[in-house]
Amino acid sequence: MKDKIKLLKKQKNAVILAHIYTPDPVQEIADFVGDSFYLAKIAKESSADIIVFCGVLFMGESAKILNPDKKVLMPDLSSDCPMAHMVDEQKIAQMRDSYDNLAVVCYINSTAEIKALSDVCVTSSNAVKIVSSLPNKNIFFIPDKNLGQYIAEQVPDKNIILNDGYCPYHNNITPEQVLEQKNLHPNALVLSHPECTKPVLDVSDFIGSTQQIINYAKNSSHTDFIICTESGVLYQLSNDSPDKNFYFVTPEPLCPDMKKNTLQKILDVLQNESNNIQISEERRNKALAPLDKMLELST
Ligand code: 13P
Ligand code: SF4
Repeated sequence: MKDKIKLLKKQKNAVILAHIYTPDPVQEIADFVGDSFYLAKIAKESSADIIVFCGVLFMGESAKILNPDKKVLMPDLSSDCPMAHMVDEQKIAQMRDSYDNLAVVCYINSTAEIKALSDVCVTSSNAVKIVSSLPNKNIFFIPDKNLGQYIAEQVPDKNIILNDGYCPYHNNITPEQVLEQKNLHPNALVLSHPECTKPVLDVSDFIGSTQQIINYAKNSSHTDFIICTESGVLYQLSNDSPDKNFYFVTPEPLCPDMKKNTLQKILDVLQNESNNIQISEERRNKALAPLDKMLELST
């Protein structure tokens, strides 16, 4: 199957992008693996005719918004991020009516519809930098309340208005589960994704995006780490740091939508050029502005 995928990729000038949470064989065959910011940047710069995006829908949509002339195929169109749907148009309109000097800042984990109504996008790797650089006092941060709260602590001069959205898998991690691992591995550093709740972040030694967590572990002089994010990161962690030890909370956090990406489905979409992401021109144009602003402000 891998050989067939490689051949089709070459014949069709296609490139495979995979998020760090996808299954190991998918990460292994991908041309580029990374966090959501890295993948958005790669999608923007790509000269391929076809992008096969192995991740969840908001990632494929972002690639399409940035590349209207390319085919963006997803192995499984039902791979979706539940948090992306945890805010709606009415809530945004209500906040715009209630606050002067307001910026609507949307985490990239949001639908194209929501991006089209926002002023700027962010990812977990650049959110603090971008929010700090905005001229607005009031920031409606959507949809993730946990990342929003983390930003509010890092940028205290802003009035961050939170929305009640969350990632079900990161939000489920408890400080007790982290301390249980800490008792088993007392010398381990705790590395957490900012989608975790404040009590988990409060017992963490480092907070960052999936790629930042991997880089931190690689560059650290420590050998043991407790990782508070989805367990798909283990593939890159072990590749980059084969001599180090990584522990997850129990039960291991797992995003079922990321796991819908398989080699068979990659082969199918490459063969049939199916699961092609479509976004109306009007929505695409509106959603492009906040994504472009993110790319501009994060450099
Ligand atoms: P990253 O931007 O760190 O890749 O996170 C994306 C995500 O969905 C985390 O749950
Ligand atoms: Fe969405 Fe959570 Fe899955 Fe990330 S891990 S894609 S935030 S559901």
